Amino acid sequence: MARANRKPLVSGNWKMHLTHLEAINIIQKLSYSLDASDPSYVDISVHPAFTALRSVQTVLDADDLPMALGAQNVHWAEKGAYTGEVSPGMLAKLNVSYVIVGHSERRQLFGETDEIVAKKVAAVFAAGMTPIMCVGETLEVNEAATTEERVLGQLRAGTAGLDPEQIGSMVVAYEPIWAIGTGRHATADDAQAVCGALRAAVLADHGEGPGGAVRIQYGGSVKAANAADLMAQPDIDGVLVGGASLDPGEFAQIVHSARS
Ligand code: PGA
Repeated sequence: MARANRKPLVSGNWKMHLTHLEAINIIQKLSYSLDASDPSYVDISVHPAFTALRSVQTVLDADDLPMALGAQNVHWAEKGAYTGEVSPGMLAKLNVSYVIVGHSERRQLFGETDEIVAKKVAAVFAAGMTPIMCVGETLEVNEAATTEERVLGQLRAGTAGLDPEQIGSMVVAYEPIWAIGTGRHATADDAQAVCGALRAAVLADHGEGPGGAVRIQYGGSVKAANAADLMAQPDIDGVLVGGASLDPGEFAQIVHSARS
């Protein structure tokens, strides 16, 4: 499948920001900045904290806004004695479409391993949602020029056991850890090289269908100023935006830069 057949996905990861009231405010402001034509060329998802999901869902539904609801994390079990966790079924019931899995902050700060990521990815599919599975290298790995090895290892471990159709329908987000929240983004060429390698691995492992269909995002200090360049690359099908997604005006500009 050529790039033209993959609809870019621009996702806002709000991390641990915004109460439910602030989230409602941001989503309303964002809706004023979007155009009616946006859904024809770009998919948009917003990922509030768990406490704001229900409020944001209500606004999206009531006003029929052209954005999908996303979550930032999930547990892999359907239910059980897992104090403090949220199940895939709970998210699906809130009309959550996309779930970020294996964000580097979860891997680094909360001990998520490739095995846990794989269980979560499978659980998200089982509940009828789409995983956005994050991969990315530390600065150390980047400087040792072993980025590809690291991210392909994370890709293969996180997708182990999925069928080809699932692989083709998922989203992989390449997020170099040294670029997250640092203001230092990968150049469009460097990001393309890694995203191209990720696609090549899916092609080699699963064939042309999944390899051509899987959407690969770049994330890490994406701003209105660099988003168009990144998304113009042949293997970059959208962006995962942290800090800049908290500013509705800037996030809307990033969405619009997917147009080209
Ligand atoms: P950033 O975060 O845009 O603030 O660098 C990206 C992310 O962590 O998803």
